[in-house]
Amino acid sequence: MKLTVVMPGAAGREGGTRLCRIASGVMEGLPLDGALQETAKGFTVEWVRDVEGFFSRFCSKGFQNARILFLFDIGATGICMELYSMLWMIRQVEGGFDGSIAGLVVDGEGELYTKAVAREFVFSANRSGCLFVGRPLAEATKGLANFSVAARVRGISPEEAYKEAIRELALRVACFSAAPKRNPKLLCLHSCNTRVSNTYMLWSMVKKHLGGCCRIQEIFFRNGEIKDCLGCSYDTCLTYGQNTQCYYGGVIVDGVYPALESCDGLMLLCPNYNDALGANLTAFINRMTALYRKRQFYEKYLFSVIVSGYSGGDIVAAQLIDAVCMNKTFILPPYFALTAVANEPGSVGKAENVGQRARKYAGGIARVLCGDRF
Ligand SMILES: Cc1cc2nc3c(=O)[nH]c(=O)nc-3n(C[C@H](O)[C@H](O)[C@H](O)COP(=O)(O)O)c2cc1C
Repeated sequence: MKLTVVMPGAAGREGGTRLCRIASGVMEGLPLDGALQETAKGFTVEWVRDVEGFFSRFCSKGFQNARILFLFDIGATGICMELYSMLWMIRQVEGGFDGSIAGLVVDGEGELYTKAVAREFVFSANRSGCLFVGRPLAEATKGLANFSVAARVRGISPEEAYKEAIRELALRVACFSAAPKRNPKLLCLHSCNTRVSNTYMLWSMVKKHLGGCCRIQEIFFRNGEIKDCLGCSYDTCLTYGQNTQCYYGGVIVDGVYPALESCDGLMLLCPNYNDALGANLTAFINRMTALYRKRQFYEKYLFSVIVSGYSGGDIVAAQLIDAVCMNKTFILPPYFALTAVANEPGSVGKAENVGQRARKYAGGIARVLCGDRF
């Protein structure tokens, strides 16, 4: 088992920045006894420290079927030129990360940009075939302020907490395994008008190829049916969550929580509303928090069908990556989102290659959920 650590711009700076210093220390200490499973015996760490090294290997498909930890130093400006060079390349090479499993660390000198940089990178790498484990981001902000709570709770320094976060992520990437399920369940949540919605129409085109591969449960949110999270205190939310409840109750508690607990994959149908998720799905994600206090979702996959009238599917996808994968621990399977542009109601059938794309996307869902039986 090999973990490839990609840190563009690190050549000649070993030990020079906080991230270089801390990550080098963590990698030298891997694996700790008993930390890795049997299958990961003979574990080694390999570093790629320059963009040229990344380019030549990526173009010759040398980053397929790999376990990768990306490390990005974004400084005070949030601009890492090496990362943008990598994005430029990643967006041109189809399938460059096929079969690969990854996580990333983003280290900044301010309190901004870490998340924005991370989700943009994850979106593009995922479109090149990379799977990201649930909660794939370890971030560090100015003065490691974002580790202050974790450090206080555990009685360690913020730097120790940061080290532990990188180590824990590296091990989760190295150990990730996903056995296909027998008769898996896909839960689809939406609030589309099923008669005219382009998003629902595109999902129907996908769904017809999934027959026999998985059980599909659809839950429709009527407008106004779901109240957004009240923002209870942590302790109140925890108490409700431990009883599989939430302050407001209703369809989220009675229908969605049990369906979420029993599903293997979550499919969210997302029309682009003002370059964001619609209010009902946003409220659902916020209300998932109480259940998340009781149990995490590291073994479940996130999928999405996203339709925009003009543009912006990438922004909606990035919002899902942030909220559902990075925050709520769902796995991001390769090519997690099917995006399309359609303006007139019911016109998505005319979008370029849409039938072929829907079929291919369904094939990807089937491979993820049930292996190659599809
Ligand atoms: C409230 C609202 C806001 C919208 N905002 C955008 C937008 O910001 N960008 C865009 O490309 N399309 C936008 N659209 C258009 C939809 O994304 C478009 O109709 C698409 O077909 C998906 O919607 P549907 O599934 O309801 O048909 C908006 C539509 C509505 C109703």
